[in-house]
Amino acid sequence: MALREILVVPHPVLKQVSKPVAVVDDALRALMDDMLETMYEAPGIGLAAVQIGVPQRVIVMDLARQEEPPQPRYYVNPEILWASEETAPYEEGCLSVPEIYDEVERPARVKLRYLNYQGEQIEEDAEGLFAVCIQHEMDHLEGVLFIDHLSRLKREQAIKKVKKGVKAA
Ligand code: NI
Repeated sequence: MALREILVVPHPVLKQVSKPVAVVDDALRALMDDMLETMYEAPGIGLAAVQIGVPQRVIVMDLARQEEPPQPRYYVNPEILWASEETAPYEEGCLSVPEIYDEVERPARVKLRYLNYQGEQIEEDAEGLFAVCIQHEMDHLEGVLFIDHLSRLKREQAIKKVKKGVKAA
């Protein structure tokens, strides 16, 4: 496994639409292992492959609490089959938009279909933090960041702040 560099705004690759994965093989599992290690190191609870500069439809996630053992999750070619009309707000952040947090409103519950680490097709219902996180990560696959859900003013302020922070570091 290896740590990868996480791209931050306004890196143009973050705006790319990610391509479907053809086959879940050892090379893809190696990518997912690197993504997970990079996410834990950051630390974060979700990461899309495009955030490390690989525009493929792959997401890793771990929503376990600090005192719980790790619960890595892998989503390849995820699709949303259904989304509730009811929405819920949540204060989101993103490893590609460091230090910025703001409220985004999304469907409260979704039904997903995806391939797991072994390449098996899974259907799963998501609610709460899981629903927020999978929708946030799936946005990345379309080149959409959570700040794209905010007003233009807030988005521009966020990018400015990140640029300043990166320069200062
Ligand atoms: Ni993100």
